[in-house]
Amino acid sequence: MYAYTIKNLTTNNLMKYNNTPYAIKSVNHFKNLFFVFLLACLLGCNNSEKKGIATVVPESKANLILNTAIKACESQLEIAVPKLTDLTKHPRLIETNEKAWKEVPNGRLVWTSGFYPGVLWYMYDLTQNERWKTEAIKRTEVFEDFKTITEHHDIGFMMFPAYGNGYIIGKKEEYKDILLASAASLASRFNPNVGTIKSWSNKMHPRWQQHITIIDNMLNLELLFWAAKHGGDQKFYDIAVKHAETTMKNHFRNDYTSWHVLEYDSITGQVLNKHTKQGYADNSRWSRGQAWGIYGYTLVYRETKDKKFLDFAKKITDKYLSLLPEDYVPCWDFDVQENPKEEKDASAAAVVASALLELSGYMDNQADKERYFNAAIKMLTSLSSDAYSGVGKADSFLLHSTGAKSLGHEIDVALIYADYYYIEALSRLKHMTSNNLTDE
Ligand code: GLY
Repeated sequence: MYAYTIKNLTTNNLMKYNNTPYAIKSVNHFKNLFFVFLLACLLGCNNSEKKGIATVVPESKANLILNTAIKACESQLEIAVPKLTDLTKHPRLIETNEKAWKEVPNGRLVWTSGFYPGVLWYMYDLTQNERWKTEAIKRTEVFEDFKTITEHHDIGFMMFPAYGNGYIIGKKEEYKDILLASAASLASRFNPNVGTIKSWSNKMHPRWQQHITIIDNMLNLELLFWAAKHGGDQKFYDIAVKHAETTMKNHFRNDYTSWHVLEYDSITGQVLNKHTKQGYADNSRWSRGQAWGIYGYTLVYRETKDKKFLDFAKKITDKYLSLLPEDYVPCWDFDVQENPKEEKDASAAAVVASALLELSGYMDNQADKERYFNAAIKMLTSLSSDAYSGVGKADSFLLHSTGAKSLGHEIDVALIYADYYYIEALSRLKHMTSNNLTDE
């Protein structure tokens, strides 16, 4: 029988998988951590964290646990996909206590348009079942013309999960030019006076008159980095780095929590206002905003290898972890979480779980590596549990996300992007754990 112990978790062994900037393979010792902690958590035995790591886990049990989460997602898709036949729409949310996805049109202004094909690409990655590839292609190729979106920053959120994953996972090389065009559209919103991309238009967000940048924008940098590496203009790289530097300077409080919306003077670049749209209050700590920051700075470090970004990712992660409740799924805003009636945001937990799997691979000391990896596993274990899983209750992977409570909608619902980052995390985990088993 195979058995695993954790002794030699190596550093910097986060590797590129088939040119995938985010998937991970050949990480000999991460799998050990994963097996131990997932099993320990699922069996209700979390002593391994307190004692240091010495648990021995049979291979068969560990694989069973990993595969359970993947199978649950696949059976959810088997239920949902046949119902979602209109290719001009995508599933956006499932209302509280409802079962079926509410679909919305794939619109140029609808930031969630790319996540459903993205989910299907990851399911194909996890199972190699051609059915999911076929579905992913169908749902991806309906919005090629979104590559010309210059109306807002969300083109990265829209195109990379669909076309980016199609290129990387599906080996669809013909998507390359679409991604390069998309990157050029995004880059056109960069304002050198400010040093950031303008996230939103003033017409759609009239509270602000000048240059608006939101923390969410960090995720869109992935498209620019990818394009710069795949034959696109090198200015895409420079813009992404400058955006990250400016955001690092202005968008966080001294305690490393994030504001949501910054308004800059378009000419001088001066910060005019620090506000929110989806948080509880202008100066409150919106959980998903912090999650976007963690994911964003992790990816910026991956692409630049500049240590200042790694240090920053650690600081904002440590702050986030220090604010978490026991189940590692935050309330929608950290400043209302004392009230037990306030809703959770599983989407924030899914984003951070995925990010921390990657971040753990960049740590050069064992303690941090284990800390971040274990935190990610705790998040995934909670999300996979009956408390958050959609299995048997609705057509989504996850329940209990909150999109925009301050705007009065998407409160305690299933959200497509929660499912997307959850399955991305499972995919990362699978690539981290599927190789080089140690026979001891
Ligand atoms: N704009 C992305 C979000 O709502 O988090």
